[in-house]
Amino acid sequence: MTKVLKMSSSSRQTLTREADLDFDVGRVRADFPILRTRVHGHDLVYLDNAATSQKPRAVIEAISRYYDCDNANIHRGVHYLSERATADYESARKTIQSFLHASRPEEIVFVRGTTEAINLVAQTYGRQHIRAGDEVLITAMEHHSNIVPWQLLCEEKGAKLKVAPINEDGELILEEFERLLGPQTKMVAVSHISNALGTLNPIATIIKMAHAIGIPVLVDGAQAVPRMPLDVQELDCDFYAFSGHKAYGPTGIGALYGKLALLERIPPYQGGGDMISSVTFEKTIYNKVPHKFEAGTPDIAGAVGLGAALEYLNDLGMANIAAHEHELLAYATDVVSAIPGVRLIGTAKEKSGVLSFVMDGVHPHDIGTILDQEGIAIRTGHHCAQPVMEWFGVDATARASFGVYNTKQEIDALARGVEKVRKVFA
Ligand code: ALA
Repeated sequence: MTKVLKMSSSSRQTLTREADLDFDVGRVRADFPILRTRVHGHDLVYLDNAATSQKPRAVIEAISRYYDCDNANIHRGVHYLSERATADYESARKTIQSFLHASRPEEIVFVRGTTEAINLVAQTYGRQHIRAGDEVLITAMEHHSNIVPWQLLCEEKGAKLKVAPINEDGELILEEFERLLGPQTKMVAVSHISNALGTLNPIATIIKMAHAIGIPVLVDGAQAVPRMPLDVQELDCDFYAFSGHKAYGPTGIGALYGKLALLERIPPYQGGGDMISSVTFEKTIYNKVPHKFEAGTPDIAGAVGLGAALEYLNDLGMANIAAHEHELLAYATDVVSAIPGVRLIGTAKEKSGVLSFVMDGVHPHDIGTILDQEGIAIRTGHHCAQPVMEWFGVDATARASFGVYNTKQEIDALARGVEKVRKVFA
């Protein structure tokens, strides 16, 4: 049975198409062995999903099965196990392709995670196209991994990093973004969902604006991939980067989507085995895309685990996940913001997955430490987004971030914990 969710029209378009009434969080929780952990005498309440999410049994078993039955190096051997390992790895690539709705598996490059994906684009496409005086346009809400790779490139090339501002709710000011796009802009790089604020950016509009003047767009999808249905062809982004470990897969693996024609034109990122088709001391001919970008033995088991994670998410239904997290965020926003002394950081109309807040007279680390004593895991700090913290005039925030297995009861526990913090510091 399906229902269309009652949400604002853009949320409906971007987050949830159709959701299933039968999404059963109890059944989902049973898939995650770690959720049975007791912490300081309490049931674990895991609300640090934006940092890394927990792994369902399907992922743990897929990795274990790979090592039990199929382990060998890939693309090199003619023997039975090598062929099985290669098939597993390439089948994970196809799973990612279909999850992102990319048109071909060659458009998916395995990397260590979002950070490596962005560095890859900066060091290949960026080094090839950006010259002195050119500009790279990002936003004021980016994670350090979508700032520093561009700074490194700009320093090397004598280019400029331009930053589109945000408003007090943590929303991108689109008119300012558009004003900053100009003849010198050679690249736009923007997060889909801000890890520090939860802001869901109007990516489709941003891409249209940039493409109108021929500028390619890289999207940092680290927080979006586990939270919403995606279609890179519909978005028409040029590059889309994400990490496996925030999407219920293993650490150390992620993927970069790139349009095939672009990937074919840009130089390799690293040199080594598997990225070549022939080598002499005089000249190397590079392998085809995507192998051109995958030097050395990759994290084969990680790719298998990531494929299993995305299959798991597909089985749950991304629309269901988006609807579930939307409900949790709305509920958490109400109950946490009602606590005296709490100020939310990031109140965009379109948000997903993340509730960042500060409390009068309490350092966020103290909030995190007291909540930990109650068995509640949140993240405190600058969330690798120091410019965002600076903009809001805080050093750090406390951040609860939600996942497929979280419940309203857990949010009630969070609210009780925050009340306790308030009383301790009253
Ligand atoms: N980028 C991760 C976070 O937001 C580590 O917590």
